[in-house]
Amino acid sequence: MIVRQEQPEDKEGIFELNALAFGQEDEGQIVDKIRTGENYIPELSLVLAHEDKIMGHILFSKAKIKGEQEHETLVLAPMAITPTFQKRGMGSLLLREGLRTAEKMGFESIFVLGHPEYYPKFGFKKASDWNIKCPFEAPDNAFMAIELVEGALSNKEGVVEYDEAFQETS
Ligand SMILES: CC(C)(COP(=O)(O)OP(=O)(O)OC[C@H]1O[C@@H](n2cnc3c(N)ncnc32)[C@H](O)[C@@H]1OP(=O)(O)O)[C@@H](O)C(=O)NCCC(=O)NCCS
Repeated sequence: MIVRQEQPEDKEGIFELNALAFGQEDEGQIVDKIRTGENYIPELSLVLAHEDKIMGHILFSKAKIKGEQEHETLVLAPMAITPTFQKRGMGSLLLREGLRTAEKMGFESIFVLGHPEYYPKFGFKKASDWNIKCPFEAPDNAFMAIELVEGALSNKEGVVEYDEAFQETS
């Protein structure tokens, strides 16, 4: 089992994995759309692969915090582990590798809309603690953020603008 950057031949496997993990095709379609746009970062589309089989995938794409000023950030979405491999630490492995890569690349913060019991283990906190809002309707504790650079979000406010693929599909 290895974690590596997505390759062109992984495209189909990533779509199928997302369909299986989420029980619908929306997330796979979002990945396909982001891949063709300006917010795609090849180094931050990571797969967990066993031989040529895709068992997990995580995507971070460029986003903006839009308030009086505009700041670059990342959003984590989607993330999936194949159902038969869930709860064995594979998601944690992928997520930690993604956080490390994003930090090394110089990104300062990441937002995620997801399970409020899952992401805090990795250092995510409620985004509302920084007065930064989710563009989608969501419970307050489900929209979270992590600072990769200490204090990166402390002087920022606004709404996070995701890639338009998320609007079109949701
Ligand atoms: C969410 C998901 C990516 C987690 O991956 P995973 O490999 O199962 O997670 P891990 O084994 O690394 O889990 C680490 C910890 O989180 C817990 N956890 C896993 N999934 C969880 C969930 N959905 N909600 C809350 N806690 C969860 C595990 O029990 C484990 O806890 P522990 O460290 O106390 O033992 C995976 O379950 C999945 O693909 N789910 C379906 C798609 C999905 O919901 N994606 C995320 C959208 S926000």
